[in-house]
Amino acid sequence: MQKLHRGSRIIGSGHYCPEKILSNFDLEKIVETSDEWIRTRTGIRERRIANEQEASSDLALLAAEAALKDAGIKADDIDGVIVGTVTPDMQFPATACLVQDRLGAKNAAAFDLGAACSGFIYGLNTAHGLIVSGQMNTVLVVGVEVLSKFLDWQDRATCVLFGDGAGAAVLGPCDPDDGILGTYMRSDGSLADLLWIPAGGSRAPISEFTYQQREHYIKMKGDGVFKYAVRAMVDATSIVLKQADLDLEQVDHLIPHQANIRIIDAVIGRLGIPEEKVVVNIDRFGNTSSATIPIAFDEVRKSGKIKSGDIVLFVAFGGGFTWGSVLFRHTEPAGRSG
Ligand code: ACO
Repeated sequence: MQKLHRGSRIIGSGHYCPEKILSNFDLEKIVETSDEWIRTRTGIRERRIANEQEASSDLALLAAEAALKDAGIKADDIDGVIVGTVTPDMQFPATACLVQDRLGAKNAAAFDLGAACSGFIYGLNTAHGLIVSGQMNTVLVVGVEVLSKFLDWQDRATCVLFGDGAGAAVLGPCDPDDGILGTYMRSDGSLADLLWIPAGGSRAPISEFTYQQREHYIKMKGDGVFKYAVRAMVDATSIVLKQADLDLEQVDHLIPHQANIRIIDAVIGRLGIPEEKVVVNIDRFGNTSSATIPIAFDEVRKSGKIKSGDIVLFVAFGGGFTWGSVLFRHTEPAGRSG
């Protein structure tokens, strides 16, 4: 790779999940399912659900405020706000603009990024590019979803999988040999219809017909997603390590997208990484799509498990299909231990 003049690193993180907990036992009262089926097939015990008034920007704002506080910067220090989401508040304007306004980030450009569960990884990679190229100094990246409002609560194959939440990270410049050491992104749009919301866009605007067919809700072919996700996440892990000339043994923490415990287990098995290095919180939050990685990172970091100098690898896979990874050497913000 070309030698860069500067690098970028995460200087703060935050997350917010709605208070309301929906357990598998609660789901047993909504669809024909069981706690046992959900736990053994997905690893999920409970998930958070937004209330009627809460939209993606509300969750994103709280995660972003926590990340800014953690980074010790003011909103008007931010040059860019990138929000990875497929559940925006509305078709337009971008949820990122709503977050930018409510934060008071009056010097920032703002845009949404639609890469489904890979949205946060795509966002981090984009922010890294903007910083190393010198176009921006400080970029806020948020992964947020309120998927509960796009789920078909009559479809037991999908409604048990997902939850609502937001995670955020602030990126700033650093020495080119520090911070982010490797980035990778790929896509395959030929598989779009394995995981999608068919109606509500310009292809099939919502009509009485699409409404009756329930096409404004998430549709998924679970087995196809499963196979592809495992292969893509294993590849994305190996490629980003090779880019940085590191071995898997040098990785201290692997934070995979929390889609399903069986996908995570299959990735662990194929890579041969010790389980204790892999961060898993799907049991408590379900699949929050673009938010899973920043929520897990913020949780585990603030628990003190990630120390300065640790090598961290994020890897995600999502609808599109999209997938990607980010590898970095972590530095704790000044004033924190580690
Ligand atoms: N409760 C009880 N039974 C269920 C449920 C449920 N919630 N959902 C499906 N079933 C039934 C099916 O109807 C089927 O019944 P049948 O045999 O009578 O037809 C049976 O369980 C088996 O269905 P499968 O779809 O074959 O179940 P499988 O064991 O493959 O598990 C799952 C389904 C968990 C979705 C699996 O395919 C999977 O893990 N896929 C990966 C996809 C995924 O995790 N997506 C998350 C979003 S994508 C992302 O984040 C990248």
